[in-house]
Amino acid sequence: MAIAWTRDLNTGIDVIDQQHQRIVDYINQLEHAIKQRNQNVVGQVLGELVDYTLSHFAFEESLQEQVGYQFAKPHKAVHNIFATRVAKYQERHKAGEDIAEQLHGMLATWLVHHIKRDDMAYVAEVKTSMSSIVQDKKVGSWLSRSLGSFFK
Ligand SMILES: [Fe+2]
Ligand SMILES: [Fe+2]
Repeated sequence: MAIAWTRDLNTGIDVIDQQHQRIVDYINQLEHAIKQRNQNVVGQVLGELVDYTLSHFAFEESLQEQVGYQFAKPHKAVHNIFATRVAKYQERHKAGEDIAEQLHGMLATWLVHHIKRDDMAYVAEVKTSMSSIVQDKKVGSWLSRSLGSFFK
């Protein structure tokens, strides 16, 4: 079933919410491709989803570092474990194994849970620093620079 964007997924940081929405869109596209039984499209969407999610992780980690989030390291570790897990699935998919459905289930569950629990946890801290981030010219330009460099 497609993931609907519900209010409890909103962190209240626009730039992060937009990225999360895009990730959810990709997960829903993946589900659609699986239903169509189109392996090429499945592979393509999967690649895009993984690329985009990894860029989002890098952006989030950089943002946490900027504001001195105390759990930046464990958050990054959680991202890394997930990335390794997904890479293994991707390899199996490339080797011709039919794991798309299983992977889709894992992605949907994990990412939604991660947004609701781990991402929500850093938001308060980032939000407090965010107004100064946007106003502070030095950090403000960091934000636009980062968006440009993480999301090509
Ligand atoms: Fe995260
Ligand atoms: Fe996130």
